[in-house]
Amino acid sequence: MLRPWATNFLLDNSKGSSIHAKLCNQLINEIQVGRLKPGDILPGSRSLASQLAVNRKTVQLAYEELESQGWLESRPRSGTYVSDQLPEQALSNENLSLVSANIAQDTKSSSALLSSVYESTLIYQDGSIEANDGVPDPRLIPYGTLSKAYRRAIVRSSHQASLGYGDPRGVIELRESIKDMLIKDRFMNVGTDNVCIVRGSQMGIFLASRVLNPEKGVIVFEQLCYSPAVAAFESNGFKIVFCEIDEQGLKTDCLRKILENNKVSGIFVTPHHQYPTTVCMPMDRRLTLLSLSKTHNFVVIEDDYDHDFHYDMRPIPPLSSLPNSENVVHIGSMSKVFAPSLRLGYLIANKELVDRIVHEIVLIDRQGNAVSELALADLMESGEVKKHIRRVRKLYKIRRDHTASEITRFFGDKIKFTLPIGGLALWLDISSLITKQTVERLSQPGGFFVNSYIYNKDEPQNIRFGFGALNEKEITKAVEELHALFN
Ligand SMILES: Cc1ncc(COP(=O)(O)O)c(C=O)c1O
Repeated sequence: MLRPWATNFLLDNSKGSSIHAKLCNQLINEIQVGRLKPGDILPGSRSLASQLAVNRKTVQLAYEELESQGWLESRPRSGTYVSDQLPEQALSNENLSLVSANIAQDTKSSSALLSSVYESTLIYQDGSIEANDGVPDPRLIPYGTLSKAYRRAIVRSSHQASLGYGDPRGVIELRESIKDMLIKDRFMNVGTDNVCIVRGSQMGIFLASRVLNPEKGVIVFEQLCYSPAVAAFESNGFKIVFCEIDEQGLKTDCLRKILENNKVSGIFVTPHHQYPTTVCMPMDRRLTLLSLSKTHNFVVIEDDYDHDFHYDMRPIPPLSSLPNSENVVHIGSMSKVFAPSLRLGYLIANKELVDRIVHEIVLIDRQGNAVSELALADLMESGEVKKHIRRVRKLYKIRRDHTASEITRFFGDKIKFTLPIGGLALWLDISSLITKQTVERLSQPGGFFVNSYIYNKDEPQNIRFGFGALNEKEITKAVEELHALFN
């Protein structure tokens, strides 16, 4: 049987009690705060051990111990579940997000960050293959499964007469499924009222810019960032201030300086995989950013656009799951998981903000597409989404590794990069190869690179090389073409 979501865990790595004791305490805590509910299945001991980087025996012993205490029960040939009858124990009020707060994160450093970038689309001159700056492969979409889910959604809507006007926040089935996913997979503490369905991250970003007040202050962006988000805020009258980044992403020291000199209404960040540099924001910077947002009362817009393609076993908790995250607007999307054209995403915020966003949705669109929303809810509940993510994540990891080895094979140390921990693109430092002529060739429409957004045309130093939509053969060909371009 497929299951909608596996519950992710993070182990408190502070010094003190044994791993066994920490794991038992954490599992009990997850049950007490309601993240794990009676009847929920736990991950298999092998998979939890590898997620937490501990010995499998430690997990087995913890499960056995909690079974003997009545928290868990093992069902033959099925797995370990949270008991239907929990032991008598006072519920702790501890916030779920505190669980993940103590975890120190180690992140790999990115390639040297430079001052300019091409967000590029690489098109072969014969038009046969397309590389881009990190989109998913449409050939991997499970069309059969998707069409069956759409069929069921239409039949179901006709029975429930739900094809009329509905809730502008989206159908309740999908809001519930998203809520469950965020609680189980992403450590977030959300209720259904915090969930608003949107047509992809871009709409979520635009709506956030509509409900924030440009009179209250500027909006801060990372020095290199997703330019359609900048455009959305500018269109709603915001003044933009850029904050420096380094090989660990946003420089919080620089943010402090900006806060000293400006009134700040909000900041837009992509902490999971910084766009475009692919860097994952380390935990100390996450906590500093959140603490600043609380002290200075500004909103943090967390664009979690490709959460599922993370190749490390250790899950990274989003900003929204951490302490002091009251001011975070979390935006996620199914564009990378299935296909951009499905236009399904979600925005998570406090209820007051969601209510204001609903007002905006009613003005522009009334509501989303109920059939698509029901179909996605069906796929999430049946576990098909998780199955699909697992399948394609393996493939994308192979493609990432293949791209890295082909870049090294063709260019040696002339192109520098750090293997990204996630995402669908590599951030390549091409500064040692670029000349005025290559810039011109790169920039020509119909040439090898069609540049959608050039940050600094005169001194380009980096490109994002999207590997997601190419199979291994196509990757080799794309790198070969890139090599030819520079020779
Ligand atoms: C950083 C970033 N944010 C947002 C988006 C928009 O995605 P969506 O298709 O969900 O609107 C993209 C699309 O590639 C992106 O790269």
